[in-house]
Amino acid sequence: MVTAIGVERASGESDWRGLFGGLKQGQLHPEGWYAVALSSEVLPGRITGRPFLNGRVVAYRKGSGEPVVLTAYCPHMGTDLASGQILGDELRCNYHHFRFGPGGECVGVPGDNRIPPGARLFSYPAVERFGLVWAYNGEAPLFPPPEVRDFAADELVCRARRAHVYENVAPWLPIGNTFDFLHLRHVHDLGFDFDFGRIRWGKYEAEYEIDFDSPTSGAIEQRIRVTGTNISTHVTVGATTTVGVTTATPVGTSLELYLVACVAKDAGRSPEAIDSELREQEGFVDALLADDIRVMTGIEFRAGTFVQEDQPMARWLRWVHAFPVADPAAAHR
Ligand code: FES
Ligand SMILES: [Fe+2]
Repeated sequence: MVTAIGVERASGESDWRGLFGGLKQGQLHPEGWYAVALSSEVLPGRITGRPFLNGRVVAYRKGSGEPVVLTAYCPHMGTDLASGQILGDELRCNYHHFRFGPGGECVGVPGDNRIPPGARLFSYPAVERFGLVWAYNGEAPLFPPPEVRDFAADELVCRARRAHVYENVAPWLPIGNTFDFLHLRHVHDLGFDFDFGRIRWGKYEAEYEIDFDSPTSGAIEQRIRVTGTNISTHVTVGATTTVGVTTATPVGTSLELYLVACVAKDAGRSPEAIDSELREQEGFVDALLADDIRVMTGIEFRAGTFVQEDQPMARWLRWVHAFPVADPAAAHR
C-alpha cells in the first residue's frame, strides 16, 4: 500500500482523519518548496551542509550567485561534500577529486578513468527568496516558489531566521494555524466575522482575506496565502503594513521553523528605521509563537471531535492528505 505523509492510505472518505501529525524516519514528504538554509549561511565560494527531509544536502552558489542544492554524499565513496571545494560553478569532492556540475552530473574524474554512469547527485530545483534558499522536493516543480500577496519579492526588505525546532511535528500542523479559527479567536484573542466559504482553495495554494480586531494591533486586515503544505505568508494592513513568511522544513524527525519579517523597500527610510520595524515585527511574531510552541510540544495530533468552527481545519487536513508526495533523492543517499 502506498504511504502518504507517513500514513497507510486506506480507501474511503474519511481516511484523512488518520493523517499522522508527526514525522517518521524515511517517510515521503509532500512535494513543494522547503527552506534549506538562510541566504546568509550560503556564502560565495563556500559549501554549506544541512540536514534536509530524509537525508542531507549541500548548498552553494554558482559564479552568478544562484543557489545550488545537491544531495550531500559523494557517489564514489560517500564523502560528505560539505568538505569539498567550489571551482567556478562546480563542486569538487576532496577525497578523490570527482567533480560535479550544478545539475548533479559528474563532469570529471581524476586521471584517465572513465566517469562511472551512476556517478551523479540529485540536484534539487532551487531558488533564493525572502532571505532563504529553497529546494523543491520533487523532480520538477508542480508550482512556482512562494510569493506574498501584493508585493514582488524584490520590493521587500526581508530578515529571515531559523527560529524554532519542534520534535516530531509535521509541517502542516504549525502552518495549519492559518485555518484554525478556533485557535485564532480564543487563543490569540482575535475578533472576526468570517464566512469560511471565502477561503479560495486552489490545487497547490489557498488564499483568503480577513478583518481582525486584535487586542494589540486594533483593526487589521490580513491577506493570506498558503503555498503547499508548509508555507504561509501574511500581508497585514493596519496602522502600518507588514509582511511575514512562515515556513517549516522537516529534518529527520524534527521540524525546523523559519520566520521571515519583511517591510516594503522605501528609499526615504533609514536603515535604523527599517531595523526597528523588523525588530518590532519579530517581537510580535515571537509573542504569538510562544503560545504555539507550548501547544505543539509533545502533541499527539489526531483529527478528533471537531466543532463547527473547525470546518476549515478539516478542509486543510483533506487538502494536505491529497497533496502529492515525493522522495526524488531516494536513489542518491
Ligand atoms: S569519495 Fe568523492 S571522489 Fe571519492
Ligand atoms: Fe497560533
